[in-house]
Amino acid sequence: MTNTWWSGAVVYQVYPRSFFDSNSDGIGDLAGVQAKLPYLKSLGVDAIWLSPFYPSPMCDSGYDISNPRDVDPSLGTLNDFDSLIAHAHETSIRVIVDVVPNHVSREHKWFHEALASPPNNKERKRFHFRDGTSDGPPNNWISVFGGPAWTQVTEPDGTPGQWYLHLFDSGQPDVNWTNQEVIDDFDATLRFWLDRGVDGFRVDVALALAKDMSYANREQPQKLVDAIRLDLYDPENPEASREVREFLIDSPIFDRDEVHDYLRHWREILGSYQGDRFAVAEAWAYPTERAMEYARSLGQVFNFDFMVVPFNAETLHVTAKRIITNAIEFHASPTWVLSNHDNARVATRYGGGAEGLAKARAMALVCATLPGSMYIYQGDELGLGDGFVPPESRIDPIWQRSGQTNPGRDGCRVPIPWQSQEANFGFSTADKLWIPQDASWTPIAADLQESDPHSTLNLYRQMLTLRHDHPAWNDSMAATDLTLDGSLWFIERAHHVICVLNSGSETVAIDVEGRVLIASNPEAQEWEDLASQTHMVSLPANSAVIIEKNSQPNPQVEI
Ligand code: NOJ
Ligand code: CA
Repeated sequence: MTNTWWSGAVVYQVYPRSFFDSNSDGIGDLAGVQAKLPYLKSLGVDAIWLSPFYPSPMCDSGYDISNPRDVDPSLGTLNDFDSLIAHAHETSIRVIVDVVPNHVSREHKWFHEALASPPNNKERKRFHFRDGTSDGPPNNWISVFGGPAWTQVTEPDGTPGQWYLHLFDSGQPDVNWTNQEVIDDFDATLRFWLDRGVDGFRVDVALALAKDMSYANREQPQKLVDAIRLDLYDPENPEASREVREFLIDSPIFDRDEVHDYLRHWREILGSYQGDRFAVAEAWAYPTERAMEYARSLGQVFNFDFMVVPFNAETLHVTAKRIITNAIEFHASPTWVLSNHDNARVATRYGGGAEGLAKARAMALVCATLPGSMYIYQGDELGLGDGFVPPESRIDPIWQRSGQTNPGRDGCRVPIPWQSQEANFGFSTADKLWIPQDASWTPIAADLQESDPHSTLNLYRQMLTLRHDHPAWNDSMAATDLTLDGSLWFIERAHHVICVLNSGSETVAIDVEGRVLIASNPEAQEWEDLASQTHMVSLPANSAVIIEKNSQPNPQVEI
């Protein structure tokens, strides 16, 4: 793999509706992202990834797109987008945008045309329209968000009619990728944003595009969709997890071989533009090699494993080793992800409170040290956990479609607390926010963290400055040695810096030939042991340090 800018980039995920509201309507917007560029610059990220900001009726917070080549009025205008990208580029921050090839919104003009036309007309063939059976829907497939994957329409003459496929909400009809019109239209979307200067794309559910066009019933249809649910993966129970994930093999809806034809075609489009444009696929495929195929076709794929494995040196070690080995084999760069807008934030997943935060801070140093690219979800740099969202304020379709049994993803999408003393923590001056904030967040608001040298915000800044300036990070795939010693995990990069993680419950003292550059816990200490003439570092429980060795960097790739 060539050393491209993105193979070692720190990418910050902006969820625009929850980032910063510039016009007091309670919803974050593109101008709000632009207003916060100085903050992002001071954080030290290389790129931002913008979750969808396109026109949408917001059945799934913007992942239901009615026009993929425009901006939703609640988020701004195309001019706002152009201004944001120009300002970002001026400060050397690249911009990647989300694209959603698997489905559109029920309000997309194609879907309106499909509803207005009789069955079997070409307008319906852009989607998966089928006649029902005596049991109702055309087959037994079900939606990732719960309930059937099919919804019946009313025909233009008012009679109950055909059914359309939607792997997610009924507001998100799946498009038919065997239709050339669909392929061409998506090309137009990619080119539209590439022409406006975007540096790349994050491809939503890239593994879902192709379907079994015989639409045959499957046994255990629930398991077909559970297979991509990260929250159902239990790394402590590999056998049960394998059973869950094995439903991705020969699936009628996910990870079908044909998908790669589409992805390779997009990569050609990316390659026809100047400046190393790239795409990262969301594709939680099984086994891992199948996921890596997406990196081979497209450039990069998310390695979501760190969002599911427990905070345990041994499991982390085995997981990282596998990811790096696979990446090398596939000439790809690993991607380290601790949180995103679909899953519990890392501090919450590790149990919340002081311990959850300590572990989240330690893992930030780990991810920053490992070879490859690091994705940071907005607010993780403040150490946020999920906010509590009362049932009456929940808007994620998962909440309703699961019959109010699964609270859904609103907790990790709560708007960012910027100012401890201002209304809505400075996120907005509106009376009401699209998702309410968590009143307990005052002490972790960004302004208070600015002045605290030990805050999570300043830890992230220090860490990203180091990663940016230190020669050990010059090569994104620099030699990485991983070693395990009980609850200690050593990640040595370029033979020059070592991140040591202590996942145990006791403080451990280690002797090192070097000095500590960053510690996730300010109580970590270093001293000279005069008797043995060694330099010692004590690592508190649930913490990590980055140490610079007394030797020069050597970036040869090896593991
Ligand atoms: C994955 C996105 O990350 C998620 O937020 C969305 O609900 C589904 N894809 C459907 O687009
Ligand atoms: Ca707004």
